[in-house]
Amino acid sequence: MNISHLKESIIKLINEENTVSEKLQSICNLLKKEINYYNWVGFYFKNGNKLELKLAEFAGEPTEHVIIPFGKGICGQVALSNQNFVVPNVETQDNYISCGFKVKSEIVIPIFVNKINIGQIDIDSHTVNPFTKNDKLLLEFVCEKVAQLL
Ligand code: SME
Repeated sequence: MNISHLKESIIKLINEENTVSEKLQSICNLLKKEINYYNWVGFYFKNGNKLELKLAEFAGEPTEHVIIPFGKGICGQVALSNQNFVVPNVETQDNYISCGFKVKSEIVIPIFVNKINIGQIDIDSHTVNPFTKNDKLLLEFVCEKVAQLL
């Protein structure tokens, strides 16, 4: 993974004359295309005043998990913990919502606006244990840039 190249591409996308939604969609598309073990990339955001996440833009197979209550699954846990959550092997997780038998690992990074956790980026991979420090660094960068759009 060439982090600096990917960061430049993300900045370019964000600076395009597009709506926020189009920018988020472009980020999902770019990450899924450029990183071969990113098989599903999506953004979940807090659903108004409800204690649940709602799926926003994503790239990859449609999922039935459009609404995720806080506390449920990896995403719902991150909504409460405010911490990155890297799952090298989803089989080891009890509190996990499956999006298909092909998914083997997952990484979720929260998005903070004014220090409040307002959503997250979620990546599913068909590979076991693919994520490194670079994924964390890249996705934290993406979340910081996205936060500035919101
Ligand atoms: N696996 C997630 C659910 C969302 S999908 O990955 C798109 C979870 O456990 O929260």
